[in-house]
Amino acid sequence: LASIEVDISKITPGMGIKTSWRKQPVFIRNLTPKEIAEANAVDVSSLRDPATLAERTKPGKENWLITLAVCTHLGCVPLGVTEGENRGSYGGYFCPCHGSSYDTAARIRSGPAPLNLNVPEYKFNSDTVVQIG
Ligand code: FES
Repeated sequence: LASIEVDISKITPGMGIKTSWRKQPVFIRNLTPKEIAEANAVDVSSLRDPATLAERTKPGKENWLITLAVCTHLGCVPLGVTEGENRGSYGGYFCPCHGSSYDTAARIRSGPAPLNLNVPEYKFNSDTVVQIG
């Protein structure tokens, strides 16, 4: 399948889901206002792979963080899409394989991973349906 449509209407702030696209796991997370503020408070120039939350999301939809669920170190699936899972030291995602922590914009912050979680091509077909690919 070249692209998939995902119903995001049931993903409340603070929650996320894991889906799959082109045989790769994908996270779709609805960030809380606090998580957005945390992402925006970071000095981008201090980052290993500099990018703003706005650059990693769509205008007006900064709360929807959509990334591949593939650690950029050696490809494990990080934890943290579901509230209550280990989200690591920066509140985003934690890769248990070798301890990489990603922040609430899924940017790499500590551990061996070299790059942020990858943002796939996607668009909103409506307020509740996102098309990936
Ligand atoms: Fe994620 Fe190594 S695969 S830290």
